[in-house]
Amino acid sequence: MTPKRDFLALTDFTPAELEGVLSLALAMKSGTDRRQPLVGRTLAMIFGKSSTRTRVSFEVGTRQLGGHALFLSARELQLGRGEPIRDTARVLSRYVDGIMIRTYAHAEVAEFARYASVPVINGLTDKGHPCQILADLLTMREALGGWAGKVVAWVGDGNNMANSWLEAAGLLGFELRVACPEGYEPDHATYEWAAARTRVLVTELPEEAVAGAHVINTDVWTSMGDEGESDARRLAFTGYAVDDKLMAQARPDAIFLHCLPAHRGEEVTEAVLEGPQSRVFDQAENRLHAQKALMATLMG
Ligand code: CP
Ligand code: NVA
Repeated sequence: MTPKRDFLALTDFTPAELEGVLSLALAMKSGTDRRQPLVGRTLAMIFGKSSTRTRVSFEVGTRQLGGHALFLSARELQLGRGEPIRDTARVLSRYVDGIMIRTYAHAEVAEFARYASVPVINGLTDKGHPCQILADLLTMREALGGWAGKVVAWVGDGNNMANSWLEAAGLLGFELRVACPEGYEPDHATYEWAAARTRVLVTELPEEAVAGAHVINTDVWTSMGDEGESDARRLAFTGYAVDDKLMAQARPDAIFLHCLPAHRGEEVTEAVLEGPQSRVFDQAENRLHAQKALMATLMG
């Protein structure tokens, strides 16, 4: 029996495997691959945080592949009353064929995966959001033809999304420039891992990050769980909004990405989010195609 594969971070895949998932996603999106490898299979989805895109795209994606998805709120599971992760993981593994989890501490998902005997997928932790980056890479491939020789700029919080972009850059070899205020840098170990493999710049200057970039990327200044810091963060991130002036310093054909939900007037202006360079709704759609390919690979 082949050992089960988890997807807790992009680095769980080799570059070739990652490219393979993305190619499969494109084939599923175009309709050239209509296989239903999840017939008779069930995905459990545990949410400890809110979600629109992740929940709906996993649920619809499972259905399109012939399977069934269960929405489980962490609060309403016995997990929310203190049943250990290791017991929950082993029990659910007796019923379902894959488990997606969205939670706070990354260590919780890692522990879940250690005890589960079925594939575990990270649906966002405080450390990373690898499923989102699959969709973002797919969007980059569609809009720009790929990532070889490309420069991706991240402007704003060095959060879970920024960490997963670092992993993508390290795996695929494109240049990543992160502009963030002091104290809001991405995870240091992830930065070092990526910097050993590709060109990575961390700067406090958004203009330096976006100069000549192909992709301009941002995310909320206050992620889920950080709400108590939102006033301090709004202050710290002054000057980090993506607006037309900043976009004009990237390549003329640069695309704007945002994982959504977005706060118009904070990290991005209405004009950029709704403007001609924005690909945010293609990006949101691509969650569905990328995760179908992911589930087919791990659970099919
Ligand atoms: N981008 C993303 O993960 O969105 P949701 O929080 O709506 O799932
Ligand atoms: N960084 C955001 C992403 C939401 C999809 C958060 O963690 O809240």
